Amino acid sequence: MRVITIVNHKGGVGKTTTVQNLSKALAINGKKVLMVDNDPQANLTVSTGIKNVETSIYDTMCENKDLPVIKISENLDLVPSELSYMNAEQKLQSEINGYFKLKKALNKFAKSYDYILIDCPPSLGILTLNALIAANSILVVVESAYLSVKGLQTIIDVVDDVREELNPELRTEGLLLTKLNRTVLRREMADTVRDVYSDKVFNTCIRQNVALEEASAAGADIFDYDANSHGAEDYLNLCKEILANA
Ligand SMILES: Nc1ncnc2c1ncn2[C@@H]1O[C@H](COP(=O)(O)OP(=O)(O)OP(=O)(O)O)[C@@H](O)[C@H]1O
Ligand SMILES: [Mg+2]
Repeated sequence: MRVITIVNHKGGVGKTTTVQNLSKALAINGKKVLMVDNDPQANLTVSTGIKNVETSIYDTMCENKDLPVIKISENLDLVPSELSYMNAEQKLQSEINGYFKLKKALNKFAKSYDYILIDCPPSLGILTLNALIAANSILVVVESAYLSVKGLQTIIDVVDDVREELNPELRTEGLLLTKLNRTVLRREMADTVRDVYSDKVFNTCIRQNVALEEASAAGADIFDYDANSHGAEDYLNLCKEILANA
C-alpha cells in the first residue's frame, strides 16, 4: 500500500481536483483506492456527490472511532469530511499523540488498498502534519502562477523537517504543475519550477480546463463527466507516471 498526501498551503491550486481525478484514474487502472478528505471545507466529499455525512473523519480524529468508509464506484472509496472538522485542530493540539492519529487510523487499512490519497486543507497546521506523518510520499500541487511558485520552498522546508524528526521514509512523489495555459507568465513560471526542481517535476502538466471545474460542481469526476476532455487526458497521463514510479 502506498499513502500519498497531496499538499500546498496555498488555496485553490487544484489539490482536491487532483485527489478526485487521480484516484479515479488509478481505480480505472484496476487499483484499489481510498480517498481521504482531510479538510474541514469538505470539498472532496461534496465533489464526489456525497451530501449527508453522518460520521466523518472528525469522529476518528477526535472521538477515536474507526474511519468511516463510503463506496464511490468500483475500486474507489472515500473517507468523508464535514464542517465540524474545523474544531479538530484545537483538540488535537492538546493531545500527546495528536500528530499521529491519522497514521494510526490508516494502519488498519494496510491490506485493503493499493493506494490511499489524502486531500489537505490550504494550511500547514496539525491536520496537514497528520497527513505528512501518515504518508509514504507527497505530491505537491503547484499552480503555475507567481505566488504559488514563491511559496513552494515553505512546503519543502516543512516536509524536510517532518522527514528529519517524525517520518524518515517520507519521499517526494513529485511536483505537479496545474492550471497551465498559454499566457507567457504562466509558461515562464512553469519553466522556473522545472529549472529549480527539475527531476522532481512530473512530465505531465494539468492544463487549465473548464470541464474540470464543471465536473466537480456537478459532483462527478472528469471521467464520468467528459472522458474526452483535456482534463481526463492529463490525469490519465499523471496516473501512468505514478504507476511507473511505484
Ligand atoms: N486544471 C484546472 N483547470 C480549470 N479549473 C481547475 C483546474 N484545477 C482545478 N480547477 C478549479 O479551481 C478551483 C480550485 O480547485 P481545487 O478545489 O481543486 O483547489 P484546492 O487546492 O483543493 O483548494 P483548497 O486549497 O481551497 O482546498 C475549483 O473550482 C476547481 O474546479
Ligand atoms: Mg481542496
